[in-house]
Amino acid sequence: MSNDTLRDLSQNPLVQRLGVPRIPVLRRHVPGAPLLDGPALVGTVGEGTYADAVRALLENESVAEAGGGDVTGGKVAGVVLDATAARTLDDLAAAQEFLTPAVRRLAANGRLLVLAPEPGEDPEAAAVAQAFDGIVRSAAKEVRAGATANLLVVHPDAPPAALDSSVRFLLSGRSAYVDGQVVHVGVPVGPEQDPIGMDAPAEPVAPLAGRVAVVTGAARGIGAAIADTLARDGAVVVAVDVPAAGEALAAVANRTGGTALQLDITAADAAERLLAHLRERHGRVDVVVHNAGITRDKLLANMDADRWNAVLAVNLRAQLGINRALLEGDLLSDSGRIVCVASTSGIAGNRGQTNYAASKAGVIGMVRALAPRAAARGVTVNAVAPGFIETEMTARMPLGTREGGRRINSLRQGGLPVDVAETVGWLGQAESGGVTGQVVRVCGQSMIGA
Ligand code: NAI
Repeated sequence: MSNDTLRDLSQNPLVQRLGVPRIPVLRRHVPGAPLLDGPALVGTVGEGTYADAVRALLENESVAEAGGGDVTGGKVAGVVLDATAARTLDDLAAAQEFLTPAVRRLAANGRLLVLAPEPGEDPEAAAVAQAFDGIVRSAAKEVRAGATANLLVVHPDAPPAALDSSVRFLLSGRSAYVDGQVVHVGVPVGPEQDPIGMDAPAEPVAPLAGRVAVVTGAARGIGAAIADTLARDGAVVVAVDVPAAGEALAAVANRTGGTALQLDITAADAAERLLAHLRERHGRVDVVVHNAGITRDKLLANMDADRWNAVLAVNLRAQLGINRALLEGDLLSDSGRIVCVASTSGIAGNRGQTNYAASKAGVIGMVRALAPRAAARGVTVNAVAPGFIETEMTARMPLGTREGGRRINSLRQGGLPVDVAETVGWLGQAESGGVTGQVVRVCGQSMIGA
């Protein structure tokens, strides 16, 4: 039993007979499980530069290709359309011709993934490129039973291998609560345009092997799930939290086999102490996850400086300071990955949360400004924006607010901390060097801020 009683009840055929729609049980990653639970259908519009790389990846993962272009067969677990060559309305019509019968075959918990070009300068080509945004966001609202649809917008110079980690993530159970998202993939950052691991794909069961990851706010909630997930994927985790959470923090460090650092990230010397711990205990850092965050809700009309400053200090000022120190120093490796936890409140706004939304929108602004600056040294900077995630905080909400928050998304349920953690793990891989300056929502395609 989960704490989503309605979803549990809706699995019962008797309850379904009363007209209660079944709320899907999402397919999530289990170590050793196949990438997809069945065959995949791969299509192209025009040339299809990336389709061969997708086919090779699927073959590597032992996923069969369905029907060799025959779109009338049985159920498929995944549908991938390489539309990166689409330039004209005729190409768009060809995409529809492939997608309509393909989507009809999509199984429960299936994955629809479209690769589209960047809008160029030609008006028709730009219109067609942007049209895929509309197609995928709408399809994500149409596919049922836990299936998702996402779009990768591909830079014309991106080598096929740059897409690997993103294609793998979006097809797998790791992206269970990532739906209706648009992610840009470019030429991998860094001086050589071929960062560590690109031509030697990481072992899929341990894509973070050999990497040192620091996670702030790791004692509980989403941060603890991030620490667990990164450790499961092979990273050595440095768990950071306030001294008051010391006991829970030690438990996380023990079970993940990493180190614990009791640190209030708002302290004047926080960046210095964090870097000293990393240097002394690990000698480097590869993945930095800014997860620690607080809320101090009050309507703007009643807001006071204490609430305002406390939220901005933890959620934004501390991140700015630590990032500055990391990018000025030499501890962050040349496949460094900075992942900041924002929130859909920072995109859509939320009543009573001007301070929180300011901090989370601020994080998004910071990520976009830092990404091009960090690129030269091989470092990516991205944000994940969780929507309604089942945590102690949401469990304490009044029933009506909780039920509302849970259901107003395409998957009709809240996400789990692990869903945010898996997304962080994907962005943390050395192989994800083509993804930077992005804001990836982990919200089940929430109607809020859509
Ligand atoms: P939580 O309150 O359960 O955990 C936050 C952790 O951060 C705690 O362990 C806390 O001690 C630590 N922390 C707070 N101030 C700190 C400081 N000054 N120095 C070091 N550590 C500090 O929160 P939850 O729900 O796990 O959220 C994690 C992140 O996800 C936050 O940034 C939050 O804003 C964000 N988020 C959460 C959502 C949700 O539905 N729970 C939705 C959207 C975003």
